[in-house]
Amino acid sequence: MGRHERVAALVGDDLAGQAVADLGCGPGRTVRALLAAGPARVHALDRASGLDDDLLADRRVRSRLADLDDGLPLDDGVLDAAVSLNVVEHLASPVDHLVDCHRVLRPGGRLVLAHSDWDTALFTSTDDALTRALVDRFAAAAAGPSTRSDGFMGRKLPALADASAAAGAPWELVAVDVWADPHRRFDDGSVAWKVATAVLAAAADDAALAARAAGWLEDLRALARAGQFLFAVTDVAVVLERR
Ligand SMILES: C[S@@+](CC[C@H](N)C(=O)[O-])C[C@H]1O[C@@H](n2cnc3c(N)ncnc32)[C@H](O)[C@@H]1O
Repeated sequence: MGRHERVAALVGDDLAGQAVADLGCGPGRTVRALLAAGPARVHALDRASGLDDDLLADRRVRSRLADLDDGLPLDDGVLDAAVSLNVVEHLASPVDHLVDCHRVLRPGGRLVLAHSDWDTALFTSTDDALTRALVDRFAAAAAGPSTRSDGFMGRKLPALADASAAAGAPWELVAVDVWADPHRRFDDGSVAWKVATAVLAAAADDAALAARAAGWLEDLRALARAGQFLFAVTDVAVVLERR
C-alpha cells in the first residue's frame, strides 16, 4: 500500500453515499484511492489542471480549478470528509486553510491532513556527507515551482491543528499516523528521481554545493542499477474530526 492508499484508508474503507474532497489533488492518485471505497462524490480541487483522464471520465469525480488561498469553493457543511496530501506547505496561511476545511465539513466530518517531512528524506549514495548537505539545503530552502515550502511540515501537523482550533475551528484529534514507504527504483519519473531532482535544484544557488553534487544523480542511478538503492521519506498524517 502506497501513501495515497494509506491516506484514503484513514478516511474510511466504506464511503458509500458520502461526499469527499481531495484538496490539492494533483494528478489524482488519492482521488483514485478514495473511489475504491465507493463514495457518491469526490471533489477534486487544485489550482492547476492535472487530473488523469480516467478520473475525469468517472461520473463521481467533480474536478474544480480553485486557488485554495482564496477559500474553498464549497458550501458550509457539504462534505463528509476531506484529504490533503503534501499541499499545505504551499499555502499562504495553512491555519486559515484549516479553518476553511472545518467550515465545509459537516459536524463529525473527517479531515485527513498528511504531509511528507522532507527533512527526513533518505537516499542511499556513495557520499553520505554530500547527501546530508543536499537534504539539509532542500529542507531549509524554498524548493520546486512554488515559492513556498516547508521541509519540516510533517512534524508540524498536530500543532497546525491546534492553531486552527485556536482560530475558531475546533477538532477532535482522532489519530496521528507516521510511515515511510521504500522506493528502490531510480528511473526517470520515479518517485525517488522526482524528489532527488528537486533536492538537486534546491542546491543551485549554492555554487560550491552544486559543484560537489554534479554527479549525485548518476551516483544514485548507478546504485539503483546495482540493486543497492533505497529512498524513503517520513510521511505524517493527522486524522481530525470536526467538532
Ligand atoms: C506536491 S503536489 C501534491 C499533489 C497530490 N496531493 C499528491 O499527493 O499527489 C501539491 C499540489 O498542490 C497544488 N497547490 C499548491 N498550491 C495551491 C493553491 N494555492 N491552490 C490550489 N492548489 C494548490 C499544486 O498544484 C499541486 O498539485
